[in-house]
Amino acid sequence: MIPPPVSSRRSALKHTLNFCTLGTLWPLSNSLAQAEVKTNMNPNPRLHSFIGGLEGPWRVTSQRTLIGDGLSPVTRLNYLPENITPPPSHASWVLHGATSNERYVTRSEKEQLLAKQKALGRLEATCAVLIPIKKNEKWWSLTQDERREIFEAQSHHNQIGMDYLPAIARRLHHCRDLTSSEPFDFLTWFEFAEEHTAEFDKLLTRLRATEEWKYVEREVEVRVTKA
Ligand code: HEM
Repeated sequence: MIPPPVSSRRSALKHTLNFCTLGTLWPLSNSLAQAEVKTNMNPNPRLHSFIGGLEGPWRVTSQRTLIGDGLSPVTRLNYLPENITPPPSHASWVLHGATSNERYVTRSEKEQLLAKQKALGRLEATCAVLIPIKKNEKWWSLTQDERREIFEAQSHHNQIGMDYLPAIARRLHHCRDLTSSEPFDFLTWFEFAEEHTAEFDKLLTRLRATEEWKYVEREVEVRVTKA
């Protein structure tokens, strides 16, 4: 039998290499293969990670469980705009969440929020709180309009929250639809200056007394200060 020309042997080898390294079922050019590797390294810029352990710029001042199972106690917290996996060796836990579009606000509520809220990272905001939350099956079996009814018409979540802007800066992360299985549905993060701690406590008391909180089945509160 006549051996195939060198060029086609090279292309067969390239095909095999692409198949082996990327697990794809079709041949890829080198540039496509590189693009694939890059995408895997940074799949979603909206993904964030909270790393609880022994390292990080936030020192944990208190950690308590409000509802359901807690999280292992940690002394430091890191909050990064990346998908951190696997967990670093010092970490006791890593929680992942993604920022997303709003589900419940009306146009006029959204505009009021945008006009009043402040961004994260203010120099004077030396206190922060991570509150991971999981809602129960009953909540998730409701329709969007039923959830909005409980969230705002009955519980006034946004209306209550607006009373604490701009002192409290916030960011909501969703966890339910991530590929990794996450222990919470939401990771809520708040930053404020130390003198607004009492106001933040009042906000928590008001929200936790609402109809919406009857659907919360797990809630943990991790308070931190800038180390
Ligand atoms: C700082 C004042 C606050 C304001 C202005 C505020 C406002 C909002 C708004 C507008 C949404 C709905 C976003 C959407 O349309 O999808 C939301 C969702 C949420 N907030 Fe707040 N909030 C505040 C404080 C808090 C606090 C202190 C907690 C936790 C203790 C919290 C927990 C949540 C959760 C878990 C959701 C997701 C609800 C769901 O989708 O079922 N919020 N917040």
